[in-house]
Amino acid sequence: MGLLWNLLGRPVIAVQDSEKAHSRTMFSLKLIQRIPPLRGMLKLSYRAKELPCSIIEWNLRNPLGLAAGMDKKAENVMAWDSLGFGFIEVGGFTATPQSGNEKPRMFRNSAHGALINRMGFNNPGSKAAAETLAAVQARRKNPTMKILANLGRSKSTANEDAADDYCVSLARLWKHVDGFVVNVSSPNTQGLRELQEGAALKSLLDSCISKEKECGGGKPVLVKISPDLNDEQLDMIIDTSREAGCAGIVATNTTLERPQPLNKKSAAFISQNGGLSGSPLKHRSTEVIRYIHQRTDGEWPIIGVGGISTASDAWEKIINGASSVQIYSSLVFKGPGVIKEIVNGLTRKLKENGLQSLNEAVGLALGEE
Ligand SMILES: Cc1cc2nc3c(=O)[nH]c(=O)nc-3n(C[C@H](O)[C@H](O)[C@H](O)COP(=O)(O)O)c2cc1C
Repeated sequence: MGLLWNLLGRPVIAVQDSEKAHSRTMFSLKLIQRIPPLRGMLKLSYRAKELPCSIIEWNLRNPLGLAAGMDKKAENVMAWDSLGFGFIEVGGFTATPQSGNEKPRMFRNSAHGALINRMGFNNPGSKAAAETLAAVQARRKNPTMKILANLGRSKSTANEDAADDYCVSLARLWKHVDGFVVNVSSPNTQGLRELQEGAALKSLLDSCISKEKECGGGKPVLVKISPDLNDEQLDMIIDTSREAGCAGIVATNTTLERPQPLNKKSAAFISQNGGLSGSPLKHRSTEVIRYIHQRTDGEWPIIGVGGISTASDAWEKIINGASSVQIYSSLVFKGPGVIKEIVNGLTRKLKENGLQSLNEAVGLALGEE
């Protein structure tokens, strides 16, 4: 079944450096998505059965999303749709196009099931991204998969002017996406994580939410946070973001923490600078989700992301308070078959627990509905 992946994806990923493998896979998907019979094959091979759920005000065909950073140019929307994601997050986009940090800047370690990246928001800029998304929009009939745009700050923009940078991108993309994620948690743009702090966060979110209203309103603005925050910082972010009118939160981005080395190769891997994703992030991101769910009495939508590679991992996030989930690293390690594995596995989990809908499972581990 995973013929296309086995032919195009896996061999490339097995032998090449991480970023080259990623670029080639993106390129292959770009070709495939242009040819309707091949898109049909993707659907046939990879799409899961429907598992309807709702988050924010959306009804999704399933709760599994593609995390930000995989499709930095928003060039493979049709392919992600065929592969069966319930929603995707494209970008991160900045107002100015930028090439990102020097290569190599993406590293993979199978023993840890982890990636380290210090990409630094390499992206075509929000103007070009809006053009790409407009073209896709014209081709998509009856779209069911929702699209979020992940917004970051250009390297050349100081934190004091960050709001302008985010708002320029938001306005350019507004017509072409279903919502926004204000990313203040990437560790690879100097000073970006400082935007998670008090007054800076308030002013940034107020600006983004006003800009969204000015553009016409009705598109949710969420905030994406780091896993490397203490409870006090989390409280402040939750309160500030809710007061500003954020529709929900994406928890979490990559971490600066490192696991214990397993061997020489792993020691070299974890010594790389950048944000770590994949299995070692799983526990901490679930902890953050649980904390947010408890502090908000389950009333604030959480998109859970970090180290999900099986249906059990996704279930763990959901019963601790996430109303939908996203993946990045497991797609790299396992290929697109992981989408079906997770969604169909979640359907089985519901049955095993005697639940009718996924929304009933949200926060179950915490004794909530
Ligand atoms: C190469 C790479 C690039 C990423 N770029 C972004 C980004 O631009 N914006 C963002 O919010 N998160 C970005 N992320 C973080 C992911 O969206 C996600 O939060 C993180 O990888 C944890 O999920 P995972 O363990 O399933 O990979 C990136 C991750 C990787 C590995």
